[in-house]
Amino acid sequence: MTTIAVFASGRGSNFKNLYQAIQAGKLSASLGVVVSNNPGAPVVATARSLHIPVEVLSPSKYEQPSIYERDLQAVLAKHQIEWIVLAGYMKKIPESIVSQYRNRIVNIHPALLPAFGGKGMYGMHVHRAVFQSGAQVTGVTIHFVNEEYDEGPIIYQEPVIIRECRSPEAIAEKVLQVEHQIYPAVLNRLFTESYEVIDKRVYFKEKEQIHD
Ligand code: GRF
Repeated sequence: MTTIAVFASGRGSNFKNLYQAIQAGKLSASLGVVVSNNPGAPVVATARSLHIPVEVLSPSKYEQPSIYERDLQAVLAKHQIEWIVLAGYMKKIPESIVSQYRNRIVNIHPALLPAFGGKGMYGMHVHRAVFQSGAQVTGVTIHFVNEEYDEGPIIYQEPVIIRECRSPEAIAEKVLQVEHQIYPAVLNRLFTESYEVIDKRVYFKEKEQIHD
């Protein structure tokens, strides 16, 4: 069983959804810890209420980034974390941790990368930009995390048709539903199937069966 850390900064609907998928036997993983930079985030309260260990580390509270990295590494070691799953985590993952966990850190992004990604493109910023662009298709991207924001190898993408959406909020709602459908399924494939990463492309050996 793969022991994971979920990193989250906010509402935590993806965290809760992953927790439920694990409980339902749909995601073969064990939740070692929730890491947040924000002690007041709803996800922190949710994780505590579910009796999942929580560690709050705020990089801005540290004078020296190297001490923050050391503390974060210690948390991952303490909880014997094998994979890191980002679910609405607003801080950059330090490079030492990216290389220690190369292709074992996964992020979910609420648009079809490489469009509508990069620094500052998170949450409603993404959906507003998509809305204003006039695009009729957006989607969800699940990707490995590398040293650059939203640039790691793409593991899976699901398009979402937004032709009828009349606001960024309507887009956000549609996209979030798809996130909840696919994140546990894609993580489960990563934890249980064979695949290879060649440059920026990810190839699974088995045929895709993300949808029921
Ligand atoms: C999601 O839209 C995810 O794609 C993005 O941040 C949002 C987190 O939502 N990375 P929640 O906190 O899981 O509800």
